[in-house]
Amino acid sequence: MTAPPSAPSWAIEPVGPLHGDVRISGSKNAVSKLMVAALLADGASTIANAPRLSDVEITAGMLRSVGAEVVIEEDRVVIDAGTLAESRIPVSYSGLNRMPILLVGPLLHRIGEAFVPFVGGDRIGARPVDLHVDALRQFGAEVELTDQGLEAKAVKLHGARIRLNWPSVGATETVLLTAVQAEGRTVLENAAVEPEVVELALFLQRMGARIELQPDRRFVIEGVPHLAGAPQRLGGDRIEAFSYMVAGLATGGSVRITGCAQERLVTAITTLQRMGASFEITDDSITATADHLRSCAVRTSPHPGFMTDWQPPLVVLCTRAHGMSVVHETIFEDRLGYIDALQRMKAEVELFEQCLVGDPCRFQETGARHSALVRGVSPLQGAEVEMPDIRAAFAYLIAAAAADSPSILHGVHHLERGYDQVFDKFSELGLGIRQLDS
Ligand code: UD1
Repeated sequence: MTAPPSAPSWAIEPVGPLHGDVRISGSKNAVSKLMVAALLADGASTIANAPRLSDVEITAGMLRSVGAEVVIEEDRVVIDAGTLAESRIPVSYSGLNRMPILLVGPLLHRIGEAFVPFVGGDRIGARPVDLHVDALRQFGAEVELTDQGLEAKAVKLHGARIRLNWPSVGATETVLLTAVQAEGRTVLENAAVEPEVVELALFLQRMGARIELQPDRRFVIEGVPHLAGAPQRLGGDRIEAFSYMVAGLATGGSVRITGCAQERLVTAITTLQRMGASFEITDDSITATADHLRSCAVRTSPHPGFMTDWQPPLVVLCTRAHGMSVVHETIFEDRLGYIDALQRMKAEVELFEQCLVGDPCRFQETGARHSALVRGVSPLQGAEVEMPDIRAAFAYLIAAAAADSPSILHGVHHLERGYDQVFDKFSELGLGIRQLDS
């Protein structure tokens, strides 16, 4: 079965337990970052095992707009930035994803100036870029925020000593992408060390960068004058992997995933085990099954903690687990906004401003409702819902598959931005899924 090229709404017919195999694609959170890194080289880079996502097309469009050649063929993306000539990303790319801010460092190195429009991505919190801007200034860039985006200039960038007040994935990536060609040494303290950040660092190292990661989450980077294009095969998407395993468990079935290393899923597996899931793990595959799911208490946190992108599928799973589960979201203050549609599907979820699991987080006493209490088992009913962001979209799909009546899901473009061939993969698991005419 082939997915429709563009599917605005889907009708979901639950069929009971979902069973089968899912081949996990390359990581969404790494592919676009490696594409941006490829701009630093004056030769071609090849990214293999790339997921087929609209996010990749959007990033390719941005790179082409500054003169890079980008060819996407099946799961390979080839970027040749030898002909780079333009430093301005068109304002039409405003709000589409988080890549514009990451492009500033590479454009400054290649051209000496950059304009990038305001970043987008999912509406899950304020998502400021102050840490990126502070870091770019510490490298010696002149940065000015205008009402359209960010203007930056630099005759020469020099190494810097930077300490992030929060281990931001994006700000760590901005520092890596800028430090690798800045003159001298950069030390980045309190860096994010998510697998996708390490994947970017490994790619930069292949390009010729001199990067060291110390055990205390400190990157030490010696700038080099030139970087060459490099090949890299992406690791499996740990968010996609977790989401499909949860889709199996939430419907009372079992999904076997291949293509995502166990080491990327350690905390996910432990969390699901605590909830009563059993795992069969081989060198090639991971299978999750459960006869009886128990409630859980989970606090999202930076790697190696329970990642924020696993939170929406987990909350749906909690509605299938016996007892009261508690989930404390500490990365994004507004990442439980998708709960209202689950409540319409009869999920028994209540939101709280308090930090309900573990240590208090940055959102304590901000008034943000960032903890959820989930009562299970609550029978889910189908509903007509609008998907608000990538990860909530997948959570709704799982809820619709686990419900006892059909659902209609609008806003499928969110799924297509973040998940490779999701229509085909769910169809192969047996879910009744059909595109509705717009
Ligand atoms: C974050 C997640 C990443 C996830 C991605 C998409 C973490 C640490 N990061 O990465 O796992 O895959 O979203 O959902 O889990 N912040 C600032 N100023 C900045 C940058 C960030 O205050 O300049 C704050 C954000 O508002 C947020 C937190 O830091 O509260 C995490 O941001 P960051 O890690 O940078 O976000 P992403 O890179 O999008």
